[in-house]
Amino acid sequence: MSETRRPDFRKEQETTLARPHMKYTGMARALFKAMDLAYGKGTTLPKVRLLEILARIPYQAWETRQYAKLSTQYHRYADVQRAMEILHWGREAQDNEFWHLLVIEERMRLEGVREGWLWENVAPHVACFKYAWFSRWMARFDIRRAFYMNAEFEDHAEHVYMKFVKDHPELEKQKVDSEIVQMHPQGPFETWADVFRRIALDERDHMNHSLKHCGLSDRVVPYVSLATP
Ligand SMILES: [Fe+2]
Ligand SMILES: [Fe+2]
Repeated sequence: MSETRRPDFRKEQETTLARPHMKYTGMARALFKAMDLAYGKGTTLPKVRLLEILARIPYQAWETRQYAKLSTQYHRYADVQRAMEILHWGREAQDNEFWHLLVIEERMRLEGVREGWLWENVAPHVACFKYAWFSRWMARFDIRRAFYMNAEFEDHAEHVYMKFVKDHPELEKQKVDSEIVQMHPQGPFETWADVFRRIALDERDHMNHSLKHCGLSDRVVPYVSLATP
């Protein structure tokens, strides 16, 4: 479902940084604010690790909702097709988000970044519980809005990762020597800068799929480096 050809990561980074953020809704802004209050305004590895822990939750909620629908609407082929499409996309996105989480964890291990016990063990559980409840509610009552909100989060994440690479030029020289980090289908990656740029582009793919599923295909962001002349 995602673009399989390898884009020019640097060129795509330039286009992300030149592209304005989406005009975020109040609810998305409130969640970004809550993260800033808890972790500070800047981008840090513990902060993005929590974001990656949370990132799979909406897909799981949509998956549960689609399975529930399939149990009762299996005789309506168009509905079955749509549900299967969401399930397929959701599974792929969840695996991809989990790779992001493994990469961030690996980076934290290599850099020796540790958090306090409370932040490592309690905060993620509390955040997951609240976000799972919210996501299930959205999937049940307004899944289109849930897709749109996900597009907002993914747009934000794409910008955050591309800016992180720009703010840390040392990543361009750091070679990747980790099996986990090379697990992406577009690997192997030469430098850590490319790893983070690939994560940013994964977030762009998630945004694009979210936009398509809420009927906003015209707002999909293309890969300039893959455009055929
Ligand atoms: Fe992610
Ligand atoms: Fe994502």
